[in-house]
Amino acid sequence: MPIIELLYLISIFLFIIGLKRLSHPDTAKKGNLMAASAMALAIVITLFYPMETTNNNYLWIVAGMLTGGSIGYIAAKRVKMTAMPEMVSLFNGLGGACSMLIAVVEFFNIEAGSSMLDGQIITILFALLVGSVSFSGSIIAWGKLNGSLRDTIVLPKPQIINLVMLLAVLTMGILILLQDGPNHSMFLILLSLCLVYGVTFVTPIGGGDMPVVISLLNSFTGIAAAIAGLIYGNNVMIVGGILVGASGTILTVLMCKAMNRSLFNVVIGGFSGSGISSGSDREQIVKEATLGDLAIQLKYSGKVMIVPGYGLAVAQAQHTCHELELSLEAEGVDVKYAIHPVAGRMPGHMNVLLAEADVPYPKLLELDDANQQLASTDVVLVIGANDVVNPSAKEDPGSPIYGMPILEVEQAGTVIVLKRSMNPGYAGIENPLFFGERTKMLFGDAKDSLHKLINEINNA
Ligand code: TAP
Repeated sequence: MPIIELLYLISIFLFIIGLKRLSHPDTAKKGNLMAASAMALAIVITLFYPMETTNNNYLWIVAGMLTGGSIGYIAAKRVKMTAMPEMVSLFNGLGGACSMLIAVVEFFNIEAGSSMLDGQIITILFALLVGSVSFSGSIIAWGKLNGSLRDTIVLPKPQIINLVMLLAVLTMGILILLQDGPNHSMFLILLSLCLVYGVTFVTPIGGGDMPVVISLLNSFTGIAAAIAGLIYGNNVMIVGGILVGASGTILTVLMCKAMNRSLFNVVIGGFSGSGISSGSDREQIVKEATLGDLAIQLKYSGKVMIVPGYGLAVAQAQHTCHELELSLEAEGVDVKYAIHPVAGRMPGHMNVLLAEADVPYPKLLELDDANQQLASTDVVLVIGANDVVNPSAKEDPGSPIYGMPILEVEQAGTVIVLKRSMNPGYAGIENPLFFGERTKMLFGDAKDSLHKLINEINNA
């Protein structure tokens, strides 16, 4: 019906403009609302799509929407900012599961004796492959991120296992297409193989590579949705899926670049580096900062750079951090933030946190700009960051994070690290920065330390 197609076109248009607006913090909220309205419009229009209404379809649809919508609403309201990647991964998996179920339903709808060498059936099998791999892969990623699955689960020779699984999936798919009609048992074997392939694909990947995998699986889900759209000839599903697939792919490439890794290297599993860190035999001494001295040093600095990390998010110290920035600016200090692309636990994590605290966006420097300015910075405050300022990434070929670009804070006059203990960060490795000549530690919860520091500055 032309009116349905026209409304679908409006929905597609809103998706594209919404996505464009998501690319800047000032317009992101509106962009998100726009994309959500586009989705709502697409769903409502689809309800008017001509269909057989003999099996209480509307009852099923409304019941499904109410159940899924309520679970989604409660989950989104309750989720902690630091647990967002897990939620994204789970929702991602459910998107893949939808495409997988569509493929199952449509395969079982094929009439007995139909020719199998048909474009529609190839599309169904493709939707099954991509949907089920992104479903089971995302569930493994979810387990790894929330800590219920440890990175220590290792598959022997994962590359070979994955190659064998891929060949098994492709062979079974071809065998199904060579049958005289739909063979349901073979199809179910293919489904199981695809699910196992998703598990073997993600299991060897771990540590700092998880964000890349999540983004890759996200793009798979988009592709799966676009293929499902092809099955139904539904334009909004095709375009929506392509947009998710393309943006997921762009993000994957950007993150690989940020970590200086090739996608192939990420996918075959394991961090770069030999894994044997050179370590140090010298006894290492840590210097502690005192609040009073630090307050005076900050007050009389010309330029201060704040490096936020995951610990800032854990401490929910973004507002206090902004208060410190304002206090220092009132004293005439130039304050900037250095944002590492993988600081925190999800893409843009620090940008979102700081935007929430109303930190002006132009104060946020990207990695290269920040590195250029660090040598002329008097004091760097590393707040709950660790891996993203670890010099081993440049200096120690045996380090698991070797090759990842870092914020070179050791170039600054003084480095003050705010954290609770000497515990390592996400990559689980020691940080030589903490023992550096110009480094001092301020131990304690980041929010608490920042509060005390602001009081000292205001009273100094
Ligand atoms: P991390 O290396 O994880 O270090 C965070 C530090 O914060 C810890 O050393 C911890 O030390 C400290 N901390 C925790 N709670 C704190 C609190 N309440 N107050 C003060 N400090 C606290 O963080 P990072 O430097 O941001 O690096 C991010 C890491 O996560 C990278 O390895 C990255 O690859 C990985 N990763 C990134 C993403 C994305 S896309 N951003 C996704 C998944 C993983 P204490 O325990 O001693 O306080």
